[in-house]
Amino acid sequence: MCGIVGYTGPAKAAPILLEGLAKLEYRGYDSAGLAVRDGDAPVQIVKSKGRLRALAEKTDEGRALAGNVGIGHTRWATHGEPSERNAHPHVSGAPEDHDRSADPSDVVGVHNGIIENYAELKEKLRKNGYSFYSETDTEVAIKLVEYYYKKYGIGPIDALAKTMVRVRGSYALAVMFRDYPGEIYVARKDSPMIIGVTEGESFIASDVPAILNRTRSVYYIDNLEMACVRPGSVAFYNLDGEQVEKQLTTITWDAEAAEKGGFEHFMMKEIHEQPKAVRDTLHSVLRETETGKEIDLSSVGLSEEEIRRVSQLHIVACGSAWHVGVAAQYIFEDLAAIPVRVELASEFRYRRLLLDKDALVVIVSQSGETADSLAALREAKRLGIKTLGIVNTVGSSIAREADSVFYTVAGPEIAVATTKAYSAQLMAMYLLAVQFARVREEIDAQAYADYLTELETIPDKIARLLEDKDRLQWFAAKFSNAHDAFFIGRGIDYAISLEGSLKMKEISYLHSEAYAAGELKHGTISLIEEGTLVIGVLTQSALYEKTVSNMVECKARGAYLMGLTGYGNYSVEDAADFTVYVPKTDPHFMASLAVVPLQLLGYYLSVSRGLDVDKPRNLAKSVTVE
Ligand code: F6R
Repeated sequence: MCGIVGYTGPAKAAPILLEGLAKLEYRGYDSAGLAVRDGDAPVQIVKSKGRLRALAEKTDEGRALAGNVGIGHTRWATHGEPSERNAHPHVSGAPEDHDRSADPSDVVGVHNGIIENYAELKEKLRKNGYSFYSETDTEVAIKLVEYYYKKYGIGPIDALAKTMVRVRGSYALAVMFRDYPGEIYVARKDSPMIIGVTEGESFIASDVPAILNRTRSVYYIDNLEMACVRPGSVAFYNLDGEQVEKQLTTITWDAEAAEKGGFEHFMMKEIHEQPKAVRDTLHSVLRETETGKEIDLSSVGLSEEEIRRVSQLHIVACGSAWHVGVAAQYIFEDLAAIPVRVELASEFRYRRLLLDKDALVVIVSQSGETADSLAALREAKRLGIKTLGIVNTVGSSIAREADSVFYTVAGPEIAVATTKAYSAQLMAMYLLAVQFARVREEIDAQAYADYLTELETIPDKIARLLEDKDRLQWFAAKFSNAHDAFFIGRGIDYAISLEGSLKMKEISYLHSEAYAAGELKHGTISLIEEGTLVIGVLTQSALYEKTVSNMVECKARGAYLMGLTGYGNYSVEDAADFTVYVPKTDPHFMASLAVVPLQLLGYYLSVSRGLDVDKPRNLAKSVTVE
């Protein structure tokens, strides 16, 4: 989704802004812009539609813009089409003035998020003599800041505070005032923003990779806070305009984690990082004791007493994180005998919630910033229900607001399509389910030890799967012109199907659907025709025969069948035209292995169709609007 970068210091700002924006390209965007100030001279604004490259070319890689302070933005359109006019930065004046090289901008700013009451505010501003050149909510926000700034003759922090009280919605705002050259002002609510400092320089960014080459010392600005950013120093303020103290945090992951490291795409690199992501997540809570290994959730903040008290689980998430929840539902119910409901965050947040007071709401999120998941978390907290976040991004909103946090240790995920974060989330769920089962005495000490031993084998099994990619590459090339694919499976295999289907459609743009295998004949089977690709997921031996029967029904209608199953189930070849085998593991943990060939299939289809694997159209890495 949109990206923000800012710089103030002794160096030329524009090349640094472009460098930072390039690191945020993975988030998805459709236009970009820069605003740079050179002392008292009028602010220089350059925007372009499409890729960042166009902006870099327009500005001679930033060299054409003089000035040591500036802000940059990549926009993912919400209000108004992708165009130069709607691209950020936005100004408080009229762009016509700008064209005449007068300075239109007492205030100039960029914004991530959505101002929900922008139409009403626009009307108010119109009545006060403002006119608008774009369709964006951001232009309204910038003009509102200027309105308060001038009407009350107050400073930037007070003007921002008044704006924050007046707007509804989510925002990370970075604003420059003509009267305060050298400074950038920042305000935040529900949309991420960090501020990095080094000797004599300061950086702002909506996401860590943007500034990791420059500094590892960052401040996380909290909700409803503001900051005044000067070269090498930052002052933070609350909504009352009082200064607040903040701790500097050191980013520990290295900048290389955000580079491709020899792979053609981030997605392929991240697929290969799965053994490590899964192993690191496992070892973050696994302890060696005198009596053997055990899971220690003290870093998560979940005590045995709390685990015993939980009456039901509500797993709430979006997209692939929700698919993790679907798999986890079967595992928790089977191992720990706890009723589980899995919900899409966008649905959960708007229904009447009849949650038991001892329920546990588990929010799963890689970014920790997904707007719907964050809203669901807040709704559960408002009702006094205990919340647990399974989050990959340290310091993110969900991580900070949840009562307990289980951090997945996948490292930064750059490709828009999730792979290693999904796998790390699955591992976190297994660990929780096994621990719940043991603490609630649903499994004995031997079964507990066996499950832990089995979990430790999973990273190597994933690594083995990655050695055998060529067949999938061949298969993807063969099906690169297909129009439809159906993934079918039952139980955990249905959860795997959901993820396999999403991986396929989101990056290869090939229409695919996931169906609970038994549901197909209740309507959808009418879509099966000669050559339709049907992928049967068959990792659960108890359900194997049933799903094979459903595959055969599709074959009878002309489908081309791919089977995905564990080594040893060779009878699948009686029905399937092409079969992929994965190593055996406990059936509860099969999703971790079976998903890998499906990730590779989506990847190779995208490559063979000549598409942008890491930045699929219309998608954003972190969905910070609802
Ligand atoms: C799909 C994908 C998305 C995310 C979803 C939730 O490959 O990445 O479906 O899983 O947008 O994002 P997080 O986990 O950041 O809350």
